[in-house]
Amino acid sequence: MYGILTPIHSFLRWAVLLLLLAVIFKSLHGLISKRSFSKSDDKMSLFMMISAHTQLLVGIILYFVSPFVQFGNTTDKEVRFFTMEHSTMMIVAIVFMTLARILSKKGKTDVAKFRRLFIFSLIALLIIFMAIPWPFSPISRPWF
Ligand code: HEM
Repeated sequence: MYGILTPIHSFLRWAVLLLLLAVIFKSLHGLISKRSFSKSDDKMSLFMMISAHTQLLVGIILYFVSPFVQFGNTTDKEVRFFTMEHSTMMIVAIVFMTLARILSKKGKTDVAKFRRLFIFSLIALLIIFMAIPWPFSPISRPWF
């Protein structure tokens, strides 16, 4: 189980990041060009949310099977990162992605929809970028 889930979780990061970037650029373009909020904008935010929730599910299962999740071991930086920092920050980011979609759907004008989608998704992107164990991060994992 662990051997399959880790590469899936690692690969899914790219789907989450690509969809998040697409939503950010699309909503920024919508704001600048003042175009109307279309079905494709709605679909893109739906796909972004589905990818995030799938990643959440895989992450939660990994949390129970990973050797890097341990309680009481506060000296190992890698253990602390995956037990506390990575998981907490990613859950917060996924809450922001969910809010981006829900609140944008509730927006009364197209500008309000685009603005909410843009701001909440941008915050999520920044958090995710900081919490991913990039090959160049202090706690590092491969690109794929
Ligand atoms: C957008 C959300 C997330 C992204 C982009 C993400 C990304 C990643 C990446 C790139 C790795 C390294 C995988 C590798 O070894 O190559 C990783 C590991 C891990 N993630 Fe996440 N993650 C996310 C959410 C979560 C959540 C919500 C949890 C738990 C609640 C979680 C738990 C873990 C654990 C336990 C590991 C360590 C796996 C291991 O090497 O044993 N992740 N994550």
